Amino acid sequence: MLEIQWTSDQPQSATGQMLAIPVRAEFEPDAIEARFGPGVRAAVEAASFKGKSSTTFDFTQMQGDVLERVVLLGVGDGLVDAEALRQLGHDAAREAEKVGAARIVLDLQASTAAWTVGDDPAQAGRLLAQGLELGTYAYDRFLSEDNRKPSSVEAATIWADTTAPSEGTASGQIIAASVARARDLANGPAELVTPTFLAETAKEIVEAAGDANVSLTVLDRAQCIALNMGCYMGVAKGSPEEPRFIHLTYKPKSASKGRVVLVGKGVTFDSGGYSIKPSDGMMDMKLDMSGSAAVIGAFEGLVKLTVPYEVHVLVAATENMVSGNAYRLGDILTASNGKTVEVNNTDAEGRLTMADALVYGSKLDPDLMIDFATLTGACMVALGPYTAGVMTEDERLATDWMCAAEKSGELMWRLPLQARLKEQLRSKIADMRNTGERFGGALTAGLFLSEFIEGKRWMHVDIAGPAMASKAHGVTTAGGSGFPVPTILELLMGDIQLG
Ligand code: BES
Ligand code: MN
Ligand code: ZN
Repeated sequence: MLEIQWTSDQPQSATGQMLAIPVRAEFEPDAIEARFGPGVRAAVEAASFKGKSSTTFDFTQMQGDVLERVVLLGVGDGLVDAEALRQLGHDAAREAEKVGAARIVLDLQASTAAWTVGDDPAQAGRLLAQGLELGTYAYDRFLSEDNRKPSSVEAATIWADTTAPSEGTASGQIIAASVARARDLANGPAELVTPTFLAETAKEIVEAAGDANVSLTVLDRAQCIALNMGCYMGVAKGSPEEPRFIHLTYKPKSASKGRVVLVGKGVTFDSGGYSIKPSDGMMDMKLDMSGSAAVIGAFEGLVKLTVPYEVHVLVAATENMVSGNAYRLGDILTASNGKTVEVNNTDAEGRLTMADALVYGSKLDPDLMIDFATLTGACMVALGPYTAGVMTEDERLATDWMCAAEKSGELMWRLPLQARLKEQLRSKIADMRNTGERFGGALTAGLFLSEFIEGKRWMHVDIAGPAMASKAHGVTTAGGSGFPVPTILELLMGDIQLG
């Protein structure tokens, strides 16, 4: 974790320090000249640096006895929204890492930034701290010593007219650590990140919290069978890797404002089962537990943030494999609410695992339930790689969620749960089948889940696109993104409309 502080006094130049200056696309080259002299201005112009977002220009200057590194960070239209602020923090940290600097001085006073704190200083501080921390993230667990590049960055001083945003620093760092936890879980190969590993991680989080208001229950195969979780157990049948049903609980010390259940898809490897995936499609399927990574990561954060809601995190973790014991096409599974499901595609396994987790969640008498799942390729076809599909009939919950997403700078889009499409899930010999037709695949997956919510307030978030990054973008490294941990925590820090 970085040491982050805000100051309104100009920081001293020092060796090993990098001065980072945000520069908008409409900056005045005169401002550069006034501050750094005509040489720097000429060099900036010669390099065609125009302040475009995520472009940089760096140089060194003598400040007394100190050779100071300076980087101009392009911020395009300016620090206008959550994404831009977080990106700035990220870019500053990445640049400092490149030059081996230990301390960043981020100059928000600079006229080229044209930054004003806005009406929510803490939020600005939170986003910058989050970005700075994420800028140092790398998944290096499997790199040998020679190939590891531990971050040089230890501290950041943010120089601005006001130090009010500093009250958001701690929460921003907690959010970033939760994102990093989620990324680490997702980036781990399926050989490492098994259902047992997820349960062990949950245990570590509970032990680190060391508090009676945080607890964990883990159910094994026999216990899940005893609870009649037939859909989940159908998927789990094909793997010798033991399934684990994970139930984390957090109870606030002050009066709880409501009970929230968060469910995450935890398929630690999705081969497709007998409806087997082609090799290319299987390549990223260690990431099919990204929903569970998000809710477990968010849980770690919400405990530290002492959110005012009682929160239950549920993960029905399993692999989806091929073997002599695996479930077959045509099998009929019975979920824990008694509904029967004919399996017409073993690759639509996520909804089967989620079905029993949702039934379990509904029995906790929640004020609301939200699930997160890398559920369908169809959702990526609809919305592209960066945007999650949000499905609910609960207008207030949708509004609260979309507001939280905007504040935290994550992309979400609502999709309709059209009841008419349930016709695609009809079976002649069971209550339903698990897979619809090709068109509307994200919606029929959502409609399938809606059969297991037992009348509770509920929202489904299909994160198949944004959970996985095929290459680095924004503040995201290639691989697991940790999406949408920031939005989950933003929601739980705010006032949710309940009752
Ligand atoms: N885990 C996949 C969905 C997925 C695909 C996520 C690609 C991220 C990237 C899910 O279990 C799946 O296989 N869904 C099928 C559903 C189909 C069989 C109805 C799909 O999307 O093809
Ligand atoms: Mn699948
Ligand atoms: Zn899957």
